[in-house]
Amino acid sequence: MRTQVGIVGAGPAGLLLSHLLHLRGIDSVVLESRARDQIESTIRAGVLEQGTMDLLTDAGVGARMKAEGALHHGFELAFEGKRRRIDLTGLTGHSITVYAQHEVIKDLVAARVADGGKLRFGVSQTSIHDIETDKPSIRYHHEGEAYELQCDFVIGCDGSQGVSRASIPPALRRDFERVYPFGWFGILCEGPPSSDELIYARHERGFALVSTRSPNVQRMYFQCDPKDSVENWSDDRIWAELHARVDSHDGQKIIDGKIFQKNIVGMRSFVSNTMQHGRLFLAGDAAHIVPPTGAKGMNLAVADVRVLTEALNAFYVENRTDLLDGYSATALKRIWRAEHFSYWMTSMMHRIDGASPFDQQLQVAELEYVTTSRAAATAMAENYVGVAGAQAQA
Ligand code: DHB
Repeated sequence: MRTQVGIVGAGPAGLLLSHLLHLRGIDSVVLESRARDQIESTIRAGVLEQGTMDLLTDAGVGARMKAEGALHHGFELAFEGKRRRIDLTGLTGHSITVYAQHEVIKDLVAARVADGGKLRFGVSQTSIHDIETDKPSIRYHHEGEAYELQCDFVIGCDGSQGVSRASIPPALRRDFERVYPFGWFGILCEGPPSSDELIYARHERGFALVSTRSPNVQRMYFQCDPKDSVENWSDDRIWAELHARVDSHDGQKIIDGKIFQKNIVGMRSFVSNTMQHGRLFLAGDAAHIVPPTGAKGMNLAVADVRVLTEALNAFYVENRTDLLDGYSATALKRIWRAEHFSYWMTSMMHRIDGASPFDQQLQVAELEYVTTSRAAATAMAENYVGVAGAQAQA
């Protein structure tokens, strides 16, 4: 089999790239190791930046997001018994939408299927070959048969554990990593929203986040030991912990509901500064990971894909390679901005074991500053909605 662009991984990056290329008349095949129902049900984050919303809308896959997602114009920071609002729209002119990542995946899969796109689920033994030539290929097994997909380009969208990044010789890679000594315990529960807007709470017991999914389903998180197990947490214990961390702030009270999903995620920051080798390009989690605070992960994947689409289009339409050659440098500007923001927000909001009383006061001082200085609040807001450094990235 032959295609123009071979895409490894059907997460947001791979599916969106395949869809955007299709809109430009460029052919692609997406190979995914998991089953379709698995990718459509894996619970991940749920905040879409303004630019992500606009891109999905312009690409014709934003209708359900618009109908079912919740448009938010601000969020709250709770600390030291106070709650203070960051007015995203007032400060930046932009907003965000709370819409779960797996819903974006469903919309993209549906669009690809409707357009006759080539998606292969449940593939195994995937390997990438000849990326240093102009005829790279991907070998894989599907339903018991071995295949070779010949392409002009291979795009690795297969996450941080995938084969793509590992296909770049280690000597040519430059990786950066920071691991945090805590994780997030996430729940989904039935019930009404506890708040009109998201609440990020700093508490001496640890961070907590009140988010939402729909008028009847709520998403909440609290900082935990990444090695802890969901079995150790009864519903009662979870609610006691969330109440302790969120309710103390200025009359706020979260509303309990029936918990139907629990998970623990570890937290790390990672960047592969080498996002291209020969005809292989990395996008999304295959190239970078952020801790969840601030919800940049999927938005970064979408931003990579936007840059790649333009670069591939310039190659096919005008025979230009300059945008492809500049892909890493272009994408890395936004990536490092988001890496810093996620790290900064994480560091300001979490309980850090062993932190001195002085360090704890620094966190509070930072929160006081971002919630009282218009300049500092604007800096936070423009990072949150995803327009920070927009001129530099243009
Ligand atoms: C959600 C996740 C985040 O990491 C965040 O910063 C805000 C919201 C969420 O899953 O709703």
